[in-house]
Amino acid sequence: MTTAELIASDKRHCWHPFTQQRDWCAPENEPLVLVEGRGAILRDSEGREYIDGNSSIWTNIHGHCHPKINAAIREQLDKVAHTSFLGFTNPQAILLAEELVGLWPREVPRPLTRVFFGDDGSTAIECAVKMAVQCWQHRGQPRRNRFLSFANAYHGDTMGASSLGGINVFHGRFSAFHFPCTHVSSIDDLIARSEPGAADAIDVGEIAAVVIEPLMQGAAGMRLWPSGMLAQLRTWCDRHGIFLIADEVMTGFGRTGKMFASHHENVVPDFVACAKGLSGGYLPLCATYTTEAVYEAFLGDYTEAKSFFYGHSFTGNQVACAAARASLAIFREEQVLEKLAPKIDLLSRLLGELESQRHVGAVRQCGFMAGIDLVDDAGQPYGLEGQVGARVCVAARKHGLLTRPVTGNTLVLMPPLCVTEAQIEQSVEALALGIEEIC
Ligand SMILES: Cc1ncc(COP(=O)(O)O)c(C=O)c1O
Repeated sequence: MTTAELIASDKRHCWHPFTQQRDWCAPENEPLVLVEGRGAILRDSEGREYIDGNSSIWTNIHGHCHPKINAAIREQLDKVAHTSFLGFTNPQAILLAEELVGLWPREVPRPLTRVFFGDDGSTAIECAVKMAVQCWQHRGQPRRNRFLSFANAYHGDTMGASSLGGINVFHGRFSAFHFPCTHVSSIDDLIARSEPGAADAIDVGEIAAVVIEPLMQGAAGMRLWPSGMLAQLRTWCDRHGIFLIADEVMTGFGRTGKMFASHHENVVPDFVACAKGLSGGYLPLCATYTTEAVYEAFLGDYTEAKSFFYGHSFTGNQVACAAARASLAIFREEQVLEKLAPKIDLLSRLLGELESQRHVGAVRQCGFMAGIDLVDDAGQPYGLEGQVGARVCVAARKHGLLTRPVTGNTLVLMPPLCVTEAQIEQSVEALALGIEEIC
């Protein structure tokens, strides 16, 4: 099929996520048809090349078509693609769980020792939410059935995950169907409202867990939490005997410069949700970590119905787990995190220069993730109607960069960790040119 035929067929039959289909299907919209990738570069059906500036929606870690991940997938395919993890087990999932546990400290009061596999970020969170609620039921504290999360949070789109979300345009319309959840704006707000007699007080005795995107909120606009806030939150959770769920779906697997964002503040949560980069960004796979103490609450006689009655058909998929193991091997064998440090410094320097551009407001960076706010002539954020962020990204394509904005006005730069220094320079230059052209 030609590019034109593919696009025509897409517009007839496909429905894209988070997309206004009226505009997508408009005759003047010519979507890119991506057909190949090597390292940080993607190629479209017309042979044009682009730097994958948002790591294919925050998933890709070591680049596309990495020979070690491709080989691991092929090798596993020649054995078997998928077998059920319900009633059976398999070597790839077993070994991956062991390796994942090894990424967290063991000599702590509550080490993360258990891993539950699923499909994507939303189901990793869904699993943590249900485990937390069920755990409190088994511990004889069923009143703990409410969650705490942060304003503007994004934790996914299945109903449990959506319950925790704080972005009205995504989550508001489903609020009647959500799990009970209280949103707080900051750690100070949380601490103040949990004092007895406080205005708008939080009844800590009914909280099952607090969930947070550690260090940086992504979909909210790449917003940074103050340094030390995560450790403070851990202390608050310990004080009140409440679980801490770290949503490392975006921040996990090196994006922050360490394997997990929580590691920057020496925090070990009670649950960790990871997905996106877990398989190197190759295949849908998620893992929800928890502690032995949580796990043990689910042990008992059949008559007690304590099993965790939750799961998905592709749990523990052998090909996805093989890809994830290859990705973790690349971290070890290619010193990925060590090599990332100078690239993070280069990105900081280039973003600092970009910040002086007229239509750039704040720039926020966390390791290898950055958000760049666009502002109009008066220094104010653009209104949604002009779609300025999206138009800047389309303009940046001409200079060889693919990315997308969040919240309409914040450009995201989050290339695969393997991106070269020259490609980082080209990426920031492409954004600068795109901003100059559109703003
Ligand atoms: C922090 C965070 N949690 C959860 C999710 C949901 O992940 P998925 O889209 O794989 O369901 C996302 C997706 O962007 C995310 O950024």
